[in-house]
Amino acid sequence: MTVRVVTGTIILAATMMIVAFIMVNEPNRMTDFESGYKGRSVEAGAALYDTNCKGCHGVQGEGIEGVGPALNARDLFDGRRLSEIGWAGTAYDYVFSSISGGRPRASSAFSTYPQRMPTWSSDFGGPLRPDQVRNLADFVMNWETTAMAQPAETPTPNPNAAGTDLETELPAGDAARGDKLFNGQEGTYGCFGCHSLAAGEVKVGPSLAGIAGTAASRVEGYAAEKYIRESIVSPSAHLVEGFQDLMPKTFAQSMTKQDLADLIAYLMTK
Ligand code: HEC
Ligand code: HEC
Repeated sequence: MTVRVVTGTIILAATMMIVAFIMVNEPNRMTDFESGYKGRSVEAGAALYDTNCKGCHGVQGEGIEGVGPALNARDLFDGRRLSEIGWAGTAYDYVFSSISGGRPRASSAFSTYPQRMPTWSSDFGGPLRPDQVRNLADFVMNWETTAMAQPAETPTPNPNAAGTDLETELPAGDAARGDKLFNGQEGTYGCFGCHSLAAGEVKVGPSLAGIAGTAASRVEGYAAEKYIRESIVSPSAHLVEGFQDLMPKTFAQSMTKQDLADLIAYLMTK
């Protein structure tokens, strides 16, 4: 009799301990499950981003001038961009709906982009499933931490900016660095997105194959370097025949004199 009571008590105590153990651990298990799910969604989004988005928004979401805005950017997460655009919902909803529906027309905040943001969700005739769009939105939202670590204020204009004056002296140019700037390994100018270096291949802008030669004959009285410089800092001054005025107008402010000199040196080898 006492043996049975003792056994019963031990079994009861053991059961209670197991139940207590499960109850204590349940919230952890749920968090693990949720963060595991989120992790997988972000991972799937990263792969989709790599194939579909980096060509316009940059490998790390840093944006490409004249092609697509930065997504890994503080103002997208701290509310500034949303209020500029007049969006009352959350940042996630804004990102999700921007990807889903694209931007058939430029918003006034981004009227400088010649290419439109495509529609991605199959709900609106795009190529991706809604769950893939959720993966992409999770991936973009995952940049919040790095984006919020960026300085809140827009930096004051660079005193070393290239400027539009064609006569101010430039430092000596480094063609190898110009190659990196042109092809996007350094900086975010995105020249390669609009210009091929293969002869005759037209992207948004003309091919720059042989530009060192053609530049010398484009504008009466302009040496090749001067013409290339003007093409970058004042793109509207002389348009290449048959092309629209689509080159970004921001390089005079966003580019340093050194970057400008390096790009000119690089293009003079083409
Ligand atoms: C052809 C270039 C192009 C491609 C490809 C592209 N985008 Fe965009 N995207 C844009 C442009 C341009 C805008 C700005 C549109 C506007 O407001 O005029 C934009 C806007 C956005 C916005 C809103 C940002 C803001 O601040 O308004 C998000 C989010 C976005 N894109 C995500 C993506 C994702 C994710 C992909 C890949 C599935 C993608 N984009 C592919 C060009 C592109
Ligand atoms: C959004 C697309 C776009 C981007 C980005 C872009 N360009 Fe252009 N570029 C054009 C277009 C379109 C033209 C032709 C119209 C004109 O003359 O402005 C052009 C013209 C030029 C010309 C004159 C070519 C000629 O045959 O006379 C040069 C040089 C040039 N770009 C250099 C650059 C460099 C260097 C960069 C990067 C710093 C760059 N472009 C970025 C679109 C672009």
